[in-house]
Amino acid sequence: MTFDRTPKIAPSILSADFANFGAEIEAVEAQGADWIHVDVMDGHFVPNISFGPTTCAAIRPHVKTIMDVHLMIAPVDPYIEDFAKAGADFITAHVEASPHIHRTLQAIRANGVKAGVALNPGTPASAVQDVLDLVDMVCVMTVNPGFGGQKFIDMTNKIKELRSMIGDRPIHIEVDGGVAPDTAKSVVEAGADVLVAGSAVFKGGSVSNPEPYGTNIKAIRSAIA
Ligand code: DX5
Ligand code: ZN
Repeated sequence: MTFDRTPKIAPSILSADFANFGAEIEAVEAQGADWIHVDVMDGHFVPNISFGPTTCAAIRPHVKTIMDVHLMIAPVDPYIEDFAKAGADFITAHVEASPHIHRTLQAIRANGVKAGVALNPGTPASAVQDVLDLVDMVCVMTVNPGFGGQKFIDMTNKIKELRSMIGDRPIHIEVDGGVAPDTAKSVVEAGADVLVAGSAVFKGGSVSNPEPYGTNIKAIRSAIA
């Protein structure tokens, strides 16, 4: 995987049919998805439960692009090996979820996986300043994590601040939550290059009618072109 800042669209399967993940992933990739974003929630760090490493391992063979695993769980460290074995390309942990985020990020990389660090809307950019050399991606939450389909919260200033903090380092800036054609432009202009979109990609389509996924992805792409 070579590093570049070309904008990438990462549909979140939180908005897909949970009984049909394999086919949903294949459909959305065929319709132009760059990465697949996988939201893991524990009902403790966030007020919702999704699924865990067993599901990640089951869907892995269906992902031909990049499996981007977003852990909204606490604690993180006891589960890193499980998600690495499940085949994650990226594992992102929340800075708010680990009292020892430095150790957590080291452990992700020690398992041979690219490391991401996520910031809730209420957490300042400075919270990740001292771990930037341990990460391959910073994820800026533009909703309070836990659910798909929430209203976008403007974090443009935080994205700009991170972009200048990162400088020439090969670190992606991902934006997650409420990304749609009307919100995508401002985050890309601020410096984001990975756009997670759940409801905005999966709305109106299905495995038997996947064309809307392609139309929705194109609408985001043309908004940022
Ligand atoms: C929020 C998740 C997001 C979410 C995005 O807790 O981390 O990835 O699924 O969904 P939309 O794009 O619908 O806001
Ligand atoms: Zn997410």
